Amino acid sequence: MTEALKIGIAGLGTVGAALFRILSSRHNMLAEICGREIVVTAVSARDRSRDRGIDVSNVAWFPDPVELATRADIDVFVELMGGEGDPAHGAVKAALDRGLHVVTANKALLARHGVDLAERAEKKGVLLNFEAAVAGGIPVIKALRESLTGNSITRIYGILNGTCNYILTRMQKENLGFAECLKEAQRLGYAEADPAFDIEGHDTAHKLAILTSLAFGTKVAADEVYVEGITNISIEDIRAADELGYRIKLLGVAQRTASGIEQRVHPTMVPTHSMIAQVDGVTNAVTIEADILGELMLSGPGAGGDATASAVLGDLADIAKARPGHQHGPALGRPAAHLEPYTRARMQSHEGGYFISLKVEDRIGVFAAIAAQMAKNGISLESIVQRPRPTDTSEFAGKTVILVTHATMEASVRAAVEAIRGEGYLTGEPQVIRIERTRAN
Ligand code: HSE
Repeated sequence: MTEALKIGIAGLGTVGAALFRILSSRHNMLAEICGREIVVTAVSARDRSRDRGIDVSNVAWFPDPVELATRADIDVFVELMGGEGDPAHGAVKAALDRGLHVVTANKALLARHGVDLAERAEKKGVLLNFEAAVAGGIPVIKALRESLTGNSITRIYGILNGTCNYILTRMQKENLGFAECLKEAQRLGYAEADPAFDIEGHDTAHKLAILTSLAFGTKVAADEVYVEGITNISIEDIRAADELGYRIKLLGVAQRTASGIEQRVHPTMVPTHSMIAQVDGVTNAVTIEADILGELMLSGPGAGGDATASAVLGDLADIAKARPGHQHGPALGRPAAHLEPYTRARMQSHEGGYFISLKVEDRIGVFAAIAAQMAKNGISLESIVQRPRPTDTSEFAGKTVILVTHATMEASVRAAVEAIRGEGYLTGEPQVIRIERTRAN
């Protein structure tokens, strides 16, 4: 049998500990599959005495992950610390520059420094694998990097954050409040160290930026993603969506348009009977529209220790199976020097349907004034309903007017809502939620 593949793991949190456990319990099975053993020879974590339910007494301990990357006797550096800056960034750079293969689950790091890291890996002829960075255990990186080679992709969209999908699902199904659902997601180990990254959409944006690069062959452009999180989605919005035949999901969408590529993350209404609407809880899903293959939807566990560790394991097995002299494929699907610059399509030119919910005073002419503003801005309405606000306990019982538009430009919707705001009959903040065209069941 070929010499064992020696790995060093930096970060022994939920994912690191799960990986360590699986590598030990599946040791023989993996050795058989890969033709060589995979052995953890070194680890790095902040607190050595913490009980993680794993026995690390026989592996070298490095308090500093950069030291682990620089000095440990390893072939692969596995980075499971997270964060776009140091120590993760410095440690991964050090490992690549030393000629080590790297496996990472760090979406923020790749979203910021993906092109530079890919270049470093290419220079040294090593693998930079990051399946776990996007959509947890779903093999979407492999699908884009390998299986869909030669396809031209027009749109890729998905539920990329388990925490948000878990929260929205429980709110919808159990009528629970936002804070309670978030707490539970944190307890289950789905959420980021700072859950603001999840609920404000940044985690989804990082993952989307990586997918966009792989799908469209462009440089990773995380700063060019339009981002709205789910913090202002209320039970009232979820109920209204329900009645209109929609579910609200936090989607990441990247789409080729005539003026460039749209990258957007926002709460989105999808038809209740569409496949993506059925994706509940911590489950993630990615739909890829490709010209040769057609439409592909992948769905599976998007967060949590075992699911993420499963993706890391697949990446490690690929490295274990690769033989010396084998030409490794580039990290971002094509050589870094061949990635095209990213051209952003302006959000104002986005075209789609919109759900607009307006809390208004209950007086003659308001309904007509709203309809007039829509017409003035060239917005065609699919439906318009007015209903009393059931939760309104104020002295003045207002109404909620809900509009659903046909496909229209974002700029027109923004202009209409701003004009309505100026007309003086709104009694609360307007809610605007985009509707996405999806595949039906
Ligand atoms: N916090 C992330 C999520 C973990 O909830 O999906 C996986 O990246």
